[in-house]
Amino acid sequence: MFLLTDDDLGKSILGCGDGPASFNAGLTKAGGSVISVDPIYRFSVDEIRSRVKDVCSDIVSEVSKTPDDFIWESIRDIDHLVQVRMDAMALFFADYEQGKMEGRYIDASLPELPFKDKAFDLALCSHYLFLYSSHLSLEQHIRSMNELCRVADEVRVYPLVTLESKRSEFIGPVVSELTDNGQDVSFHKAKYRFQKGAEEMLIAK
Ligand SMILES: C[S@@+](CC[C@H](N)C(=O)[O-])C[C@H]1O[C@@H](n2cnc3c(N)ncnc32)[C@H](O)[C@@H]1O
Repeated sequence: MFLLTDDDLGKSILGCGDGPASFNAGLTKAGGSVISVDPIYRFSVDEIRSRVKDVCSDIVSEVSKTPDDFIWESIRDIDHLVQVRMDAMALFFADYEQGKMEGRYIDASLPELPFKDKAFDLALCSHYLFLYSSHLSLEQHIRSMNELCRVADEVRVYPLVTLESKRSEFIGPVVSELTDNGQDVSFHKAKYRFQKGAEEMLIAK
């Protein structure tokens, strides 16, 4: 989704809203430098595991209701989707306690992050901003993007569509705000394909 090159993977990376995903575990194992933040990291491994168990069937039932909203290619069907997500979560769970001790999983939330200005080369934020445009206000989007730009030289956000697969109406005003603040904003076609319409990634430098 973020078109990450080998060069990018050698940078100091912030994963914002990383949730129970495997990026941190995988990149750390490969020798990279990454810190993930998410409010769920206030919980223990057992608490997150039990929450995942509770919501898994709801997610499956939501996706089952609207299969035409998704592109069933690299993820073949719903069983495969569950398998892929569970495999990623297993890597996360195996790494979580050690990663917390090493300060790689930090309980923090946008729009305020506990890092110095330009602490990271690159900040990545997937499936949080813009996707939840009906839950987060424009002001929260603007404050969150400004905060990500404060803590990192470069920010990448994916996707730019809402849960209803419509381009978020906040993109225009957020881009204007970032541009006014001196950021260079560009749009790129992502390679990851699952939610229909979720083709673009935003980069702010
Ligand atoms: C749909 S999940 C995406 C997880 C992961 N980035 C991915 O793409 O698979 C959204 C994540 O945003 C996190 N989140 C919610 N509020 C947040 C906030 N204020 N700041 C950062 N992350 C937040 C949630 O806890 C959740 O893990």
